[in-house]
Amino acid sequence: MKFKIGISGDLINSNGLPCFGEKSLQQVYDRDDVEIEWMDPAIKQLSKEMTSRYDAILLNLPKANKECVEGKDCKLKIISRFGVGYDSVDIKAMKEKNIIVTNTPNAVRRPVAVAALTFVFALSGKLFIKDDLVRSGQWNDRTNHMGFGLTNKTLGIVGCGSIGTELIKLSTNFFEKIISYDPFVSKKEMINKGAEKVDFFDLAKQSDFVVVLCNLNENTKDLIDKSFFKNMKPTSFFINMSRGPVVKENDLILALEKNIIQGAGLDVMNQEPINQDNKLLSLKNTILTPHALCWTDECFSEIANEAISSILNFIDNKPIENKVN
Ligand SMILES: NC(=O)c1ccc[n+]([C@@H]2O[C@H](COP(=O)([O-])OP(=O)(O)OC[C@H]3O[C@@H](n4cnc5c(N)ncnc54)[C@H](O)[C@@H]3O)[C@@H](O)[C@H]2O)c1
Repeated sequence: MKFKIGISGDLINSNGLPCFGEKSLQQVYDRDDVEIEWMDPAIKQLSKEMTSRYDAILLNLPKANKECVEGKDCKLKIISRFGVGYDSVDIKAMKEKNIIVTNTPNAVRRPVAVAALTFVFALSGKLFIKDDLVRSGQWNDRTNHMGFGLTNKTLGIVGCGSIGTELIKLSTNFFEKIISYDPFVSKKEMINKGAEKVDFFDLAKQSDFVVVLCNLNENTKDLIDKSFFKNMKPTSFFINMSRGPVVKENDLILALEKNIIQGAGLDVMNQEPINQDNKLLSLKNTILTPHALCWTDECFSEIANEAISSILNFIDNKPIENKVN
């Protein structure tokens, strides 16, 4: 019997093609012991039926909870997360059932760090405000919209893991100083990465740009709230690349409305897709992207390669990198 891989249907684009390209699937097509099946794009949560149907699941948006692997027919052996964050998977429940969970840190490291810098440059240059001046016939209003120069500025990174470290590497030429808050990275490690270790509120006080890059878990939920924003400078910008619930969104909205901070770049929000009545949508000092600023052809084909390789290594009894449980 062939080893059956279910692939998240939300990875199919509107032309009915894999959004990560066909190339990375070739390594599966070349084998006669493996078959793939595209799952229903509407699925929000894996079911017992799915975990009894597939030996492996390449998982993007659907959630994987305890219940879906509790059936007696469950034959799922590995969940390969398309991306890095795995807060949508009940890691403990998978471990109890000996189901391996992997992610794709190598593929996303550079693209997410570049996306964070994209926000830095767009916010500092007032890119979208100036674009709007041109389109709305307000060219001569440009003297009222000076950007925020990057000389002598401080970048503060909350969560100095794989992407945070890459961001430090890419940012050293732009920033005078790079500081980071991460309780799990020592002072010495932080220096080796190129940043100064600071505590939480010192990061808020000193940074001209704060970039959030920690993972979401029970300790980081609501980590950033009004007390953090109150400590930020009114000229500073806030960028969230991590997960929406790490930030108390209402506190952020207030800080933006009352000009407690200068602006924000948000790739992630509390509710995705965002509600159309969310106040963030009306804020001119905020740039919003649909949890996709890092999505490029390169990024997606690399994620697919890394995710599929984990499954094939499992089948071939080879070492599996990037296990998260
Ligand atoms: N926007 C996107 O498209 C996108 C893409 C990839 C990843 N992400 C997010 O970025 C996160 C980071 O990715 P990564 O590959 O760098 O992960 P990682 O696990 O290498 O790094 C996360 C870091 O956060 C730190 N951390 C944990 N708790 C913390 C706390 N209370 N305060 C501060 N730091 C804390 C950890 O010590 C670790 O160093 C992911 O978990 C995911 O949520 C977003």
